[in-house]
Amino acid sequence: MTFERNILCIGAGYVGGPTMAMIAYRCPRYRVTVVDVNREKIDQWNSDDLPIYEPGLDEIVRAVRGKNLFFSTDIPKAIEENDIIFVSVNTPTKNYGVGAGMAADLQFWEKTAREILKYSKSPKIVIEKSTLPVKTALAMERILNSNHHGIAFDVLSNPEFLAEGTAVRDLTNPDRVLIGSEETERGLCARNILVEIYANWVPRERILTSNIWSSELSKLVSNAFLAQRISSINAISALCEKTDADITEVSRAVGTDSRIGPKFLNSSIGFGGSCFKKDILNLVYLCRHYGLTEVADYWEGVLKINDYQQDRFVLTMIDAMFNTLSGKKICVWGFAFKADTGDTRESPAIRITKRLVEENALVIVSDPKALKNARADLRGLEDRVSFVEDPMEAVKGCHALCVLTEWDLYRHQDFEAVYASMAKPSFLFDGRNILDHGKCFRIGFNVYPIGKPPMTHFQ
Ligand code: UDX
Ligand code: ADP
Repeated sequence: MTFERNILCIGAGYVGGPTMAMIAYRCPRYRVTVVDVNREKIDQWNSDDLPIYEPGLDEIVRAVRGKNLFFSTDIPKAIEENDIIFVSVNTPTKNYGVGAGMAADLQFWEKTAREILKYSKSPKIVIEKSTLPVKTALAMERILNSNHHGIAFDVLSNPEFLAEGTAVRDLTNPDRVLIGSEETERGLCARNILVEIYANWVPRERILTSNIWSSELSKLVSNAFLAQRISSINAISALCEKTDADITEVSRAVGTDSRIGPKFLNSSIGFGGSCFKKDILNLVYLCRHYGLTEVADYWEGVLKINDYQQDRFVLTMIDAMFNTLSGKKICVWGFAFKADTGDTRESPAIRITKRLVEENALVIVSDPKALKNARADLRGLEDRVSFVEDPMEAVKGCHALCVLTEWDLYRHQDFEAVYASMAKPSFLFDGRNILDHGKCFRIGFNVYPIGKPPMTHFQ
């Protein structure tokens, strides 16, 4: 069969994999190829055990793989054969040299640009999918157009807004798709080609177009705003704990104002994930670069509150457990940065577990999907940390139980049995406010929610 379009994505990660699976699923007339330098990952995409856990993704991949969706490591051939190329490689925070700890590390991304240049034999539309600092497309354009074979490249920005755990839903029914291009005749022509791809299933009024810099900046700002809401509510949770107000009641009252809205107001141990911290650091770096010190400080505050919230959680534990955790067994339920994913990048559970180990506690980590990543994150701490998938097994004999990820399965445990199996007095620290605190208190736990008065049996 001849396909109408040949689309390539370089980078088969959390963004590239699901996004391309959705394009292939919704557009049977297009042939979609996904390549990656990591052979193991590609082998997994070609197997029944996909490299990422995402509800609903298995079914979609199974429906289209081998028909119009292909995973491969042959990058040169793929570049040669496709004329629309999404770039979805990782852009972590730089950990060396100028901008270390703040700026995005663009080495993988620039390498990809050079590979595209090297193997292209015909004009290409190159689409930035990875979140990148503003003006990166310009650099991409300059590298690509430094060629001397007369091949034309058009660079578009098309940031991805999907959230992990709901990727399939977000891709099926996005709030918006954003496409940035140069506003030249060629740029607009390339933009329209991408609009038509999405228009196969996304209503046209939800496909927004803009200039390329606005598109790049919008992605950073969206994530900064979302993270800011979480830090705002978490900052207030600290005040609630001092004043006997209840954060759930406050967030409900605030969120019913239609101008504010109810989403992203759940107080927690803080946000994690690969995007929020990285993108705010990027924004802060950009502002400092342009001498906007006050603006940079403002956004940096969002990150400071996030760290503070995690440290505060550990301090509450130490304070509650008679000022020492030394030698005590502490069970952690949930290591993923949020429910319904196995991803642990920037998970608050990493920082909290390390703090507990510093206090000489023995930590037992449980999670239904994230133990493989948790083991890697906590490498070197094996003498103090163990990993047990079954939550009931993990909690046996522990002095305290902390809930760090809002997995639904934790809501439905038999808390009478949990309490019976633990050392006494038993402490429960609900870092996600998902449990029935009154019920757990009546069973016998000393309960410490976030942003609410603790419920203890001590006088
Ligand atoms: C985020 C953005 O939502 C998405 O648009 C972007 O493309 C990538 O970054 P993601 O990191 O997958 O997505 O997850 P998200 O649902 O945004 O949650 C981020 C973190 O905030 C998680 O750790 C979550 O537990 C936490 N969170 C979220 C809260 O603590 N409280 C809330 O009310 C909501
Ligand atoms: P994201 O969450 O943005 O999707 P991931 O880290 O999950 O990020 O995925 C990025 C993928 O890009 C990784 O699988 C990595 O191996 C791949 N990658 C990085 N550099 C290159 C490259 N030069 N060519 C092809 N794939 C690359």
